[in-house]
Amino acid sequence: MKHLLSIADLDRESLLRLLDAAEGHLALQDERVKKRDHLRGRTVINLFFEDSTRTRSSFEIAGKWLGADTINIAAKGSSVSKGESLRDTVATIAAMGVDALVVRHPASGAPAQIARWLDAQGRRASVVNAGDGTHEHPTQALLDAFTLRRALGELEGRHVAIVGDVTHSRVARSNLIALRTLGARVTVVAPATLMPSGAAAWAARDGFALSHELDAVLPTVDAAMMLRVQSERMAGGYFPTPREYTVVNGLTRDRLAALPEHAVICHPGPMNRGLEISPEAADDARSRVLDQVSAGVAVRMAVLDTLMNDPHHTDGVQA
Ligand code: CP
Repeated sequence: MKHLLSIADLDRESLLRLLDAAEGHLALQDERVKKRDHLRGRTVINLFFEDSTRTRSSFEIAGKWLGADTINIAAKGSSVSKGESLRDTVATIAAMGVDALVVRHPASGAPAQIARWLDAQGRRASVVNAGDGTHEHPTQALLDAFTLRRALGELEGRHVAIVGDVTHSRVARSNLIALRTLGARVTVVAPATLMPSGAAAWAARDGFALSHELDAVLPTVDAAMMLRVQSERMAGGYFPTPREYTVVNGLTRDRLAALPEHAVICHPGPMNRGLEISPEAADDARSRVLDQVSAGVAVRMAVLDTLMNDPHHTDGVQA
């Protein structure tokens, strides 16, 4: 595999292989000397056109722990702010001999377009989608699956509710694919106004359930995956209002009692505490939010190692 653009690029076997590889990398976090040399001499560029705390820093740490040189480029502070096009920006960076580009962009499909341009130029660089618009966030789905598997065991038959602003959520889209690939039962829970149009046909095709009733679903789950309300993608405001949203769809302190004792709470971050998740839920013993962050480093190490140690990189032949 040269690029990771969608979680659908991974069949069940490759997905499980990445999760297993990440298990080995997770142990590094407790070691005093963390550097390895799997990617010594390689260069990874994080090219971020949207803000990020978790994804950008964990890719940077992942690259560094594997021995690569990692460099961060943000749209602000680059020649993009002078009007340079995406194509010219990418061609310029690739001409410096980079081995991997980790890309976050507000436009759905931008990382895939970048991969096509680089392939057409015969560049060896791998492209990793670090979140594109409302489309996908494949490494988030990997770290979520990793976290759930550590908490619950194998995911076959486990019931996961993905709850919230599904319309704008690339996390939901990637997680749906990953969880179904791993055999989990998934229910998508959202107010009608934040459920994407065509959701019924999508659910029928991909084999998951839809609900607008969080209170009915919550007692039946093994995991509640709360989504961030993405108000920055709702320029005209949104309905329900924040207060209504919390009442109808928030994981409030009162709703925590309905969540089974063995179940876990996930959130990709950043959290809107008091909106989609209460402080009590975020800090509950069942919350795995910080485990997700730790998993992010391990999973991204597995992804970078796998992509860059693929034969197309080591033998110098373009894929
Ligand atoms: N979950 C996630 O993508 O977080 P960041 O925006 O902080 O990277």
